[in-house]
Amino acid sequence: MKDTANFVHWFRSAAPYIHGFRGKTFVIAFGGELVADGGFVQLAHDVNLLNSLGVRLVLVHGVRPQVEARLTENGTAIRYVSGLRVTDDAALACVKEAAGTVRVEIEALLSLGIANTPMAGADIRVASGNFVTAKPIGVIDGVDLLHTGEVRKIDAAAIRRRLDQHDIVLLSPIGYSPTGEIFNLSLEDVATQAATELAADKLIFLMDTEGVPDRGRAIHTALTVSEARQILDKGKKLPEDVTYYLPCAVAACTRGVKRAHLISRKRDGALLSELFTREGVGTMITPTPLETLRPATIDDVGGILGLIEPLEREGILVRRSRELLEMEIDRFIVLESDGVVAGCAALYPFPEEQAAELACLAVSQEFRGRGFGDLLLAAAEKNGKKAGFRRLFVLTTRTEHWFEERGFVDSSPDRLPQRKQALYNYKRRSKVLEKSL
Ligand code: ARG
Repeated sequence: MKDTANFVHWFRSAAPYIHGFRGKTFVIAFGGELVADGGFVQLAHDVNLLNSLGVRLVLVHGVRPQVEARLTENGTAIRYVSGLRVTDDAALACVKEAAGTVRVEIEALLSLGIANTPMAGADIRVASGNFVTAKPIGVIDGVDLLHTGEVRKIDAAAIRRRLDQHDIVLLSPIGYSPTGEIFNLSLEDVATQAATELAADKLIFLMDTEGVPDRGRAIHTALTVSEARQILDKGKKLPEDVTYYLPCAVAACTRGVKRAHLISRKRDGALLSELFTREGVGTMITPTPLETLRPATIDDVGGILGLIEPLEREGILVRRSRELLEMEIDRFIVLESDGVVAGCAALYPFPEEQAAELACLAVSQEFRGRGFGDLLLAAAEKNGKKAGFRRLFVLTTRTEHWFEERGFVDSSPDRLPQRKQALYNYKRRSKVLEKSL
């Protein structure tokens, strides 16, 4: 019974994403480890699901462990210069083999259609081909990297045609030159260029770690491009995968990709959790902050009501009807986070006294602890000052301390503006606090 309720609740909460993702382009990149470890079976299920929801998918796979295995088998030494493999003829032969094998394995798993599995009824067409043109990297630190290359061009138009037909496009870390040469590329280069050229909505990297580490064992759940840059510039030691993928996420987001996600390949269902929940499970990188502070509009009324209702029930806020809120919506500012009203505050002017009442300052439960209240208060103070008010006052029954910690001082009902005094509810016995601006 409880499970059913959870399921229904979860499914409904995913509706906006299901809706929003249809027709969108996601580039999903993962190392060859995922295929080597058998983890791609799980991913195939999720890819199938996304495909059936109308997401346009480009998969980019790596081959590193497969290449390494072949090289060791042959007894060939692996040479690296500044983190890049030198691909000599023997290594290139391994790359070709590895790429071929991995690709075939992926195609096979995407072709599953066994009844009573998540792949039942799947009818996936996988398209691959010569979509990537490459050029040699050339000489680095005096060493010729030979067949190691970088992306020169992605045939976005050709990829789009496949996506238009509902195909899943599979890219290998290999590119061809106009002279018919073959180049060994990095999967992150291919993925980033593809996402950029396609102006993808998402670029997703599956990593060995959970995300970009924050303090302790926590990870950053969301970063703007500039925050991500700061982390990279600090030069603190980061997990290897993060050092590869975070710069790519930044590059993609500065070149038109809307969001990049760094998530764990090991956690079952990470991709779906990241995509279909608001908070996700990994690190999301966006070009600009997810939060915006702005004046409320009539469209926010529903969101604000949802936000203040629990607080009204607890008696922390005075009840406001929808009608009243609609009438007074001009007084409100909202803090929006990723399309959701996360907090609000209102300013009621008393021009005769050059004062304003700060009211209805609220932050939704799920957004607590992120300093949103301070942001709203700062914005309200700024607006009040701009409007020429000298004094801000607030009536509160339960959150006195919060305001005192932010520079409000004890006041009394008789210091309220005349019109407000007339309305003061002596039964509620709210504390009056004020702050000069
Ligand atoms: N599901 C949403 C999306 O795919 C939000 C994900 C948020 N993820 C995060 N790590 N903060 O865009």
